[in-house]
Amino acid sequence: MKTIFSGVKPTGRPHIGNYFGAMRQFLKLQNENDSGVNYFCVVDYHALNLVQNAEEMRRLSLDVAIDFLAIGLDPKKSVIFKQSDVSEHTELAWIFDTITTVPYLKRAHAYKDAVAKGGEEDVSAGTFTYPMLMAADILLYDTDIVPVGLDQKQHIEFARDTALKFNRIFGETFKLPEAYILENVQTVPGIDGQKMSKSYNNTISLFASDEEIEKAVMAIVTDSSGERPENVFAIHKLIRSESELEKIYEENKGKYKILKELLIEDLKTFIRPMRERRGEIAKDLNFVKKVLDDGKEKASGVANKKMQQVKKSIGVI
Ligand code: TYM
Repeated sequence: MKTIFSGVKPTGRPHIGNYFGAMRQFLKLQNENDSGVNYFCVVDYHALNLVQNAEEMRRLSLDVAIDFLAIGLDPKKSVIFKQSDVSEHTELAWIFDTITTVPYLKRAHAYKDAVAKGGEEDVSAGTFTYPMLMAADILLYDTDIVPVGLDQKQHIEFARDTALKFNRIFGETFKLPEAYILENVQTVPGIDGQKMSKSYNNTISLFASDEEIEKAVMAIVTDSSGERPENVFAIHKLIRSESELEKIYEENKGKYKILKELLIEDLKTFIRPMRERRGEIAKDLNFVKKVLDDGKEKASGVANKKMQQVKKSIGVI
């Protein structure tokens, strides 16, 4: 019996990097973990570092819930909920802030990236303490396994360190979670060969229209060496077996247009059913809101019990 927990930030449309790097594993684990509990969280308070417009926040948060359902997460098998609906997350994050040092948090890749981008003056305190809120998300539910992409590995190590530190100071309270990162998709590349990321503008949306797929694939950066177009191949192998592709790419050596057209067709076939399912689910927003309400209820019960234990450990009750 395992507890699975993962989260997605509502900062815009999900892309195939989110899907192959993490969300597909949500589905696999959900379907294998019959006797355990699976939590999939719309981490809106994490997104608040970036999304600071009420209308947008409401829309993007609901969108992630729809995305979860569209990829096949099942509210009968998984608890789907919004982070802000369970206030224990931010409460526990504060407690973790008090046992964590500034130099430790300065080691976070995400913090370093933010400093490199805009200088330290522009980094919000929320960005700085982000890993402690994420540690709270994970540790509140006695999580065993956290399916994520490689970019989140350090955050899970932070959660483990924080659990160990808390247990050392206040006594055994938290379980140590393990990251679940699939080797072959730990970092899905974007159309420019860098990590696929909304902030690099190099994504292929998970629910892209046929036209968007065509545009994105045609924009994949290829070198002119006449060999295999690596950036095209790297995306293609997400949806077709590598051995099959080796043969096709060998037969079409140097014919980049043909290979891109083939990738377009394969992506269309892969994305279309999911996009259509998403369209159906988005028609019934009352259902989606009900899923989130039920999720809130279930997650709150567990989080509240754990917080009572934490509060006893630290001596506020
Ligand atoms: P987020 O919302 O940026 O991304 C969601 C998931 O997608 C993965 N991912 C990728 N995997 C492979 N290749 C890529 N190019 C790629 N881009 C994104 C991410 O690794 C992630 O698993 N901090 C988290 C959200 C979070 C969370 C949590 C996750 C908050 N609390 C608790 C797990 C447990 C984040 O920003 O993910």
